[in-house]
Amino acid sequence: MALVTSKEMFEKAYAGGYAIGAFNVNNMEIIQGITEAAKEVNAPLILQVSAGARKYANHTYLMKLIEAAIQETGLPICVHLDHGDTFELCKSCIDGGFTSVMIDGSHHSFEENIALTKKVVEYAHDKGVVVEAELGRLAGIEDAVNVSAEDAAFTRPEEVEEFVSRTGVDSLAIAIGTSHGAYKFKTEPKLRFDILEEIQKKLPNFPIVLHGASSVIPEYVDMINKFGGEMPGAMGVPAEMLRKAASMAVCKINIDSDLRLAMTGTVRKYFAENPSHFDPRQYLSPARAAIKELVKDKLVNVLGCSGKA
Ligand code: G3H
Ligand code: 13P
Ligand code: ZN
Repeated sequence: MALVTSKEMFEKAYAGGYAIGAFNVNNMEIIQGITEAAKEVNAPLILQVSAGARKYANHTYLMKLIEAAIQETGLPICVHLDHGDTFELCKSCIDGGFTSVMIDGSHHSFEENIALTKKVVEYAHDKGVVVEAELGRLAGIEDAVNVSAEDAAFTRPEEVEEFVSRTGVDSLAIAIGTSHGAYKFKTEPKLRFDILEEIQKKLPNFPIVLHGASSVIPEYVDMINKFGGEMPGAMGVPAEMLRKAASMAVCKINIDSDLRLAMTGTVRKYFAENPSHFDPRQYLSPARAAIKELVKDKLVNVLGCSGKA
């Protein structure tokens, strides 16, 4: 099995009422934890790389690690640029072997977003690469950009048909109340499923992407708090809402914060219990195992994509 695009994954996911997990990767242990989980339950995967991840780990290292994971697991894996903000960044990832890119023009005007997205789509499609774009604006933190709740905006269903037809984009990320990071809701979690339903009516059979979809698993937040961390009020998207989104037009569900929390909680616990240890393999092994367990649970019990590889 080689690297694949998300085209066939999304077609099957839409028809089957499930979603593909798109997990952010930054290093070897994260890639191993995710791909070992997917192998055990035979799930297709999207591994996504942000500009920050690329800066941290280097494009070539990440590509080679993902290639190694494909060799080890035999799974169909799509490698995707998460939140590309310029044509040049998207081009560099396409030229460097990514099979999918996101051009996030959501901070621009509607017309500028269309022009930028169209330019990326033309370059990508020529090379057999698929493109995700975003309409509407999520709150939260992406790289150095912190979008406040006031600046966030729900996707306007009346704009989606024009955006998709004028850009030729392959999937669309929408804003229905999720946000990036570990503090998604101040009180009760609430998503605008009515907006998703409207969008689905306007774009039949078209794959929708849900960003900011970590559940902020209490087990790991509690672990962080118990072992010296401070995360009061952390709250994510309940699994039940993700299941509902996956049964609708959402074909790709983005998860990063849950991986960070699992890894960090486990490492904090390890050092609290083994204060004199200093071999990185000792604390990274349980961290990798925690990621594997977390991802397995998502694939089987939340996304519904186990057995679909
Ligand atoms: O949407 C943001 C992702 O969680 C990636 O985060 O840009 O800090 O790597 P990052
Ligand atoms: P979380 O912060 O909820 O994990 O969202 C990740 C994401 O949307 C990456 O693009
Ligand atoms: Zn995102």
